[in-house]
Parts: sequence; structure tokens; C-alpha cells
Amino acid sequence: MQAKYIQSPLFPNLHYRVMGHGPAIVLLHGFPETGKLWSKVWDELAMDFTLIIPDMPGSGESSRCTESLTMELMADAVAWIMDVEHINDAIIAGHSMGGYVAMAFAEKYPLRLKGLVMVHSIASADPEEKKEQRRKSISLILKGGKQAFVRQMIPNLFSKTYKKNNFDELRLHTEDALQQSAESLADFYNAMIMRPDRVKVLADAVFPVLWLIGREDAIATSAKVLQQSTLANVNFVSVYDDCAHMGMIEQPVKLQQDIAAFAGYCNR
Ligand code: MLT
Repeated sequence: MQAKYIQSPLFPNLHYRVMGHGPAIVLLHGFPETGKLWSKVWDELAMDFTLIIPDMPGSGESSRCTESLTMELMADAVAWIMDVEHINDAIIAGHSMGGYVAMAFAEKYPLRLKGLVMVHSIASADPEEKKEQRRKSISLILKGGKQAFVRQMIPNLFSKTYKKNNFDELRLHTEDALQQSAESLADFYNAMIMRPDRVKVLADAVFPVLWLIGREDAIATSAKVLQQSTLANVNFVSVYDDCAHMGMIEQPVKLQQDIAAFAGYCNR
């Protein structure tokens, strides 16, 4: 694995990893994560694909964006990394917030997208009550409540069985999330509040879409995701039993196989 760092006035330090050989797959993490999120699947995928795994601006080793962060700016950061790596088009797999970024990328750079994997994610905007909830969380986080917010949030990402049997994994995950600054967490939540509805982008999609759904996911619920999973012209759906919002951690083998099979189809 190579760690790379690139700089611009907008992104004073953008960190990403490059691994493997073959057609490109970009793996975008969600909130409040870093590119390390993919560590249980990256070795296997790197056998057949070139992986690009950024830390989104303000997470991991990447510094915050110098402007108000948006999904569009994060999509620009992904396009910039692809330019630097001389990758014209790629499959993009986005986990939750990473899926919102991937949708912004799909709208802005449709011809650079060979296939889209929506990993526990949706194309629609937040409903008003969700935006209000996020505003309250931002206020709590910025008033010194980051610990409370993260400690309450992380267990809700995992299925009942997984969290009962993997206490240490949850603890490590919480510690990692706590590394992010309160300001960065607020940046991401503001970007989520501001993101527009992109359901229409699916209807216009010239690329195939793979939907990965956790049956116990309380955030991207199976009902919500299934509603959108027929909107693109070519859709594949994989439902994970005994899994919530974190398929790459709860069921990494299945997730890696699903992405590899889809990537095989997109590069056929
Ligand atoms: C994520 O996993 O990225 C977040 O749960 C997304 C969200 O809050 O909508």
C-alpha cells in the first residue's frame, strides 16, 4: 500500500491510499470514519483491482477543506485524486455518506463512473426532521459534546448480534471516531444537511448500480433503499441478513465478493 498526500488551496492536505493492480475501484468511507474503514476487504480486492482509498477532508490524515464542505467539493476531491493517478474512469463504492459523495460525483462526472456501489446508502436528501436532528447534534458536538455524541452513535451502526460478540471492535471503532475534531464532524453533518435530492441522477444513469443493504440497518433502512433500487437502468441488489450499517466490518467476505463480482461485470 502506498500512502499519498496532495495539496491545493482548497484541500491543504488530502491523503489517500493506493493498492493493487487492475481496473480502478475508489472506496469512499462514511461518517465518522476514515479510509481505514475498508481494511477488512482491501487486501482481497487489491489482488484484482487498483484501489484508491481517500480520507475525506477533515478525517484521518486529511486536513479540513478551506471552504464550507459539500458533497460536491468532496466529489471534486475524488476527481482530482483520479486525475493525479491518471485514472480516467472507475467504479466508486460509497459507504453511507460516501454514497452521497458518489451520487454528487455521478451527477458531475457521469462519464468517469463505470459503476456505482451504494453501500448502505441512498440517493435522496434528508427529510426536514432529520435535518433538524443533525442541527441539534452539531450544536451538541460544538459545545463539547463530541464524546457523548460518538459514544451514543457507534453502537447503533452494528447489528445486535455483532455488537454483543465484538465488544473490542466497537471500542476501537469508537476510539478512531473520537480522533476526528468536533469541527470536522460538524462539517460533515452540515454537508449532509445541504445535499440535494439526487434520485433523478439514478434515472439518468448510464452506469450500473449495485445496492448493498443490511436488513437491520436503522439508517439506510432496507425499505428506503429497496424503493430506490429499481430506479437506475441496470441495478443489482444484495441483502445482508444479520447485518446493520457496516457490511464491510460485519460481513467482509460477502461484501468483498459482491463488489468484486460487480466490478467484473462493469469491466466485462
Ligand atoms: C454514515 O454512515 O455515513 C452516516 O450514518 C450517514 C448519515 O448520517 O446519513
